[in-house]
Amino acid sequence: MQPEFIIIHQPAPHVAHIQLNRPEALNALNLQLMSELKEALRDLDADEQVRAIIISGNEKAFAAGADITQMAGKSAVDMYNIDQFSTWDAIKKTKKPLIAAVSGFALGGGCELAMLCDMIVASETARFGQPEIKLGVMPGAGGTQRLTRAVGKALAMEMVLTGRFISAAEALQAGLINRVTPVELYLEEAVKLARELSAMSPLAVKMAKEAVLKAFDSSLDEGLHFERKNFYLLFASEDQKEGMQAFIEKRPPAFKGK
Ligand code: HXC
Repeated sequence: MQPEFIIIHQPAPHVAHIQLNRPEALNALNLQLMSELKEALRDLDADEQVRAIIISGNEKAFAAGADITQMAGKSAVDMYNIDQFSTWDAIKKTKKPLIAAVSGFALGGGCELAMLCDMIVASETARFGQPEIKLGVMPGAGGTQRLTRAVGKALAMEMVLTGRFISAAEALQAGLINRVTPVELYLEEAVKLARELSAMSPLAVKMAKEAVLKAFDSSLDEGLHFERKNFYLLFASEDQKEGMQAFIEKRPPAFKGK
């Protein structure tokens, strides 16, 4: 079935772009949109032609959060049974690099979705925030954890407890995002970054991503051990032979993901 709330583009070879497309509600993340996103990511992760994936909204909003109208009347038992976070858990398992291209609002679940991605490219108009506190709740899809790890306790506490939005410039300075561009260039910049990643060995990129993410939930020793295993494992790949031989022969490598 054709998805209703997302559009899939291919802006460059090996690069896929999923656009959240519910503009009338500032891309509020209803359950159907999240399920479509999960399925698209599962398919793109399995597609050998794809090496990097961009997620964007539109100029006005990346996503203004989970859909408040869909949640407002729910009980705790309803929320438990709906189990929306299993969708988020599935998205988190994406092995290929995810780049969030953010313009306008990235709030609540929208900010959490951007933070679930591996890198964030933002337009100068981007606004990041966790305003759930103003709705009488709190972040539920990683906001208290990923934001704190990214920007530190002081700013995370302020954003989560007051709901204050931060600008792209403040987000860059705080280490939440990778790059800021004028609004007309943010998608182009995300594609440029995705193309850069897709020129690398796809196997090495996936294993390196896995190892960086390991740093968030392991001790230093465990993380180093994990890193070392992935490092050794890559010596079983043709791409390692190609990458090192190409260096020696002073030519660009041609990686195959094998
Ligand atoms: C449902 C939303 C929405 C949301 C905006 N809309 N955000 N609908 N859920 N999260 C809808 C509005 O109701 C409105 O619909 C239309 O989008 C345009 O929004 P406006 O408010 O008219 O636009 P504006 O005045 O420009 O204000 C923009 C805004 C504001 C500051 C972003 O919309 C806002 O505060 N939105 C809610 C942000 C928020 O609290 N997010 C956290 C949600 S909780 P109509 O039909 O009136 O035109 C959350 C929990 C995550 O994310 C838990 C894990 C998943």
